[in-house]
Amino acid sequence: MCSIIGYSGSDIAAPIIVKGLKRMEYRGYDSVGVATESDNKIELKKGVGKVQQVNSTIQLDALCGKVGIGHTRWATHGNVTDVNAHPHLSNSGKIAIVHNGIIENFEELKKQLEDDGYIFKSETDSEVIVNLLQRNYEITTNVKDTIIKTISELKGRYSFVVMFEDGTLAAVRYREPLIIGIGKNNHFLSSDVLGFIEYTDDAIYIDNENFVIIDKNQIQILDFNGDTVKYEITKVSKEFADAYKGDYAHYTLKEISEQPDTVLRAGENIKNAIKTVADHIKSSNNIYITGSGTSYNAALIAKQLFLKYAKIKIETIISSELQFSSYVIEPNSTLITISQSGESADVLDAVHIAKQKNCKIISIVNSLTSSLTRESNMIIGMNCGPEIGVAATKSFTSQIIILYKILDELTKDDFNIDFNEISHSISISLDNPEKIKQIAKKLKDTSDIYVLGRGIHYPIAMEASLKLKELTYIHAEGIPGGELKHGPLALMDSNVFAIIINPDDSTYSDTMTSAREIKSRGAKIIGISDKRSDLYDYWIEIPKATNELTYPISETIPIQILSYYVALEKKTDPDYPRNLAKSVTVK
Ligand code: G6P
Repeated sequence: MCSIIGYSGSDIAAPIIVKGLKRMEYRGYDSVGVATESDNKIELKKGVGKVQQVNSTIQLDALCGKVGIGHTRWATHGNVTDVNAHPHLSNSGKIAIVHNGIIENFEELKKQLEDDGYIFKSETDSEVIVNLLQRNYEITTNVKDTIIKTISELKGRYSFVVMFEDGTLAAVRYREPLIIGIGKNNHFLSSDVLGFIEYTDDAIYIDNENFVIIDKNQIQILDFNGDTVKYEITKVSKEFADAYKGDYAHYTLKEISEQPDTVLRAGENIKNAIKTVADHIKSSNNIYITGSGTSYNAALIAKQLFLKYAKIKIETIISSELQFSSYVIEPNSTLITISQSGESADVLDAVHIAKQKNCKIISIVNSLTSSLTRESNMIIGMNCGPEIGVAATKSFTSQIIILYKILDELTKDDFNIDFNEISHSISISLDNPEKIKQIAKKLKDTSDIYVLGRGIHYPIAMEASLKLKELTYIHAEGIPGGELKHGPLALMDSNVFAIIINPDDSTYSDTMTSAREIKSRGAKIIGISDKRSDLYDYWIEIPKATNELTYPISETIPIQILSYYVALEKKTDPDYPRNLAKSVTVK
């Protein structure tokens, strides 16, 4: 999703901004740009492509000046073009803006500005903000009142950094992330700590509906009424320094490989938080669970396990759908949210709706400084370190472990699960990628992959198909085994690959029946199982488990590895799949 950055200090701004943008690349984007101020003049460069690529063509980092702003854009309003890339200049050329989010009333505002004689070059909603700022600055002649007047006219959700031609920076946070970095002789503004972590680990997490003005190294933080607010400087976790690839070819491979360790760290040292959450769940009448993408697949697992092991009913709701089914939520209930980033707009909106119904919010979240943590009553951290690869890997297995830990607390001693066994089973799959690499070569030219699982393995089949889609761009579909004969069987022929998630548990023989039905239609079968079968054209062996709850994790790992190697075979970028973003902060 779009990243914004601002810098004001004693060093040349452009190279610092370009580095910051590079570190935030994982958020997903299609174009990039930088603007700086020097001698009371704004200069700007921007273009379509990756930071490295655009920089080597037009030298973004060669811009002069010690104040600047930068942006990576993930297109929402208007195509991916140089003109639509940020920063945007106001008509006078005296104000520049970078923006993340969506302005819902931009058409109406644009019309008003056009009637006033303003001319628009781009199709973006962001250019409306910068011209509105110009109009208001000409009326108020000061930055503070300009910002207050402008935000009173905007509808939607946004954070933006604006640079005035005298080098003053201002930034606004309204339901999109914005963080200030405090260096020795410099200030940073960014949507992400990674935008400035190389320079400082002192940060101010600006509250929603606050804005900041940085004028000649003086910083002021104000609320939307213009009153000064108190702020705290937080030490950013050194963990962010881990956000390097190290010796790995890709972040995705690094993150897949970290899982023997991250599953042991999930929910570590937070027994009290888990107990509080479990006690609350026990006493709650209605419980709902929500998430997007991978995190929603974890929610599907929660639904099955809580009912099976703790006899607790939880209703799953896809976050982006909640606005259309808010009537489902009974007042005074509990909403459990699962989110790696804690910034998914759909999840935050779901929270918003639930809070209006006086629900308590329990969040399972990786980024403890995210918007979601601020909105939650109870928080459980995934503790798996920064996840940079756009496709979620280690966060998914950490989410499952945390759900297990909550269940463990709910059921007391009935739920014996050996986390070391889980960690070990992951290591075994990671140590033997050769066979999976061979299968990846076969899969690279296929156009359709179906993934079958029954019971608790169905959400894993959903997650597997999501991973394959994201990383390989191959059409993939998760199917509950029994549903095969109710439609998908019509699609099976010799061009198709079917992945059968088939551990030796209570689902085994029914899943074998589905596999036979597929095989007899000529499709090729990849069996993920601890039990060999002649039916499989390719067998990916997983370790036999002493507890069936090891399987959802041990069968996830080979699929992550497979998706990664198919991506390499297809020469797609596993870390930054096309059109996708790590943290989807728009609806
Ligand atoms: C995006 C990512 C997915 C992720 C989803 C939810 O769509 O591309 O990989 O699963 O967001 O993200 P969250 O941070 O809320 O878990």
